[in-house]
Amino acid sequence: MKAKDQVLSLKAYKPGKPIEEVKRELGLTTVTKLASNENPFGCAPAVKEAVMDELDRVSIYPDGYAADIRMKLAQHLQVKPEQILFGNGSDEVIEMFCRTYLTPETNTIMATPTFPQYKHNSVIEGAEIIEVPLMENGKHDLEKMLHAIDENTRIIWLCTPNNPTGSYITDEELITFMKKVPDHIIVAVDEAYKEYVVADDYPDTIALQRQYPNLVVTRTFSKAFGLASLRIGYGIAHEDLMKVVDPVREPFNTSRVSQRAAITALEHLEFIESCRRKNREGMVLYEAFCAKYHLYYYPSQANFILIDFKTLQGDEVFDFLLRKGYIVRSGNALGFPTCVRITVGSKEQNEGIIQCLSEWLEEIGIDSDRETTIID
Ligand SMILES: Cc1ncc(COP(=O)(O)O)c(C=O)c1O
Repeated sequence: MKAKDQVLSLKAYKPGKPIEEVKRELGLTTVTKLASNENPFGCAPAVKEAVMDELDRVSIYPDGYAADIRMKLAQHLQVKPEQILFGNGSDEVIEMFCRTYLTPETNTIMATPTFPQYKHNSVIEGAEIIEVPLMENGKHDLEKMLHAIDENTRIIWLCTPNNPTGSYITDEELITFMKKVPDHIIVAVDEAYKEYVVADDYPDTIALQRQYPNLVVTRTFSKAFGLASLRIGYGIAHEDLMKVVDPVREPFNTSRVSQRAAITALEHLEFIESCRRKNREGMVLYEAFCAKYHLYYYPSQANFILIDFKTLQGDEVFDFLLRKGYIVRSGNALGFPTCVRITVGSKEQNEGIIQCLSEWLEEIGIDSDRETTIID
C-alpha cells in the first residue's frame, strides 16, 4: 500500500487531554478549559430548545442544500443565497477550497504562525506552501505576502483576527492589498472571530466582495455563537466561484441539528452582543494583569490573548496552570515558545486564572524593572 508522500509527512491532530482525565490524574474536582477559544457562555438558551426539538428527526437525512439556514443567513448578511457555502465547521470550507484550487503544480501563501488548517489541507493537495512570518507585532506582513506571489499562486490566506496573536488587518490595509493582488488569485479571509471584534477599522469584507470577486470570506458558528461541537461554518464568495466549489462538497455535510441550531442562533443576536461585551471586559482584565507584571502581550480583537512570559517557557506556564485546574494552550506548539494563549473566559474564570498567575509570578519574583510592552 502506498499512500501519497505528502500525507505520510503529516501528523494526526493531537487533541489536548480530556477534562475528565486531567481531573483524575491531578486529583482536581474542577477543571476549566480555556484552550480552544470556545464560548465560555455556551450558546443562546433558545438554541438548546431547538436542538432538543430537532432530535425527533435525526433518522432523516438533513437538507444537503441547507435551504432554511441558507435563506436566513443570506438575509442576515445581505448576500445572495448562492454566495454561501456551508461546511462541517469552517475547517471544511477551508478544505473544500484547497481541494478545488490546489494541485502539486500550484502554490499557496499564508502567514506563519497562523491557523494551521490552511497549511494542513494545502499539504494534502501537494501544493507548495509559502509561509510569510508575521511582523513583530503579530500582524500579517502583507507587503511580503504580495512579493511572494508568482504565476503558480492560487490562494492567499489571511486570518483576521489572527489565531494565535489576535491581531487584525484594517480596512485600509486590506483594500491596499486587494488592489495589488491579481484578480485570478483567491484571497481567503478567515473571520472565525469576527463577532468579537470591536475595532472601528475592521473591514466590511462582504461589501468589499462587490469590488473584488476574488475575495472569499470564511466564518463560523463555533466561536461567539457557541456551536463548536455541532460543526457548522460557512464561506461567502461570488456565486460564480461558489458554483465551482460546491460540487466538491459532501452531499450531507452539515447536520439537521446544526442547521436548526444555526437558524435559532441567528434569531438571538442579543446573545452575541452580550458575549462580545463580556469578552472585552475579560480582555481588559488580562491587559491590566500584563501591565502590572510587565508582561508582553499581543493586542487581541478575538476571544483569546497571547501573553509572552519571556523568561519562562510556555510549557512551564501551561503546566503550572494545569496543576491549578486551568487548561490553556502553550505557545510552544503555536510558534511562540515563551507564550501561552488563554481563551477569555467568564469573569470568575478570568479572575481565577489571573489570581493564580499573579501569586506564582510574585513567588518566583518576576523582573519588575522591565518596561511594560504592548507589542503594537
Ligand atoms: C482562525 C480559525 N479559523 C477557523 C477555525 C475553525 O473553526 P470551525 O471549523 O469550528 O468553524 C478556527 C478554530 O479554532 C480558527 O481559530
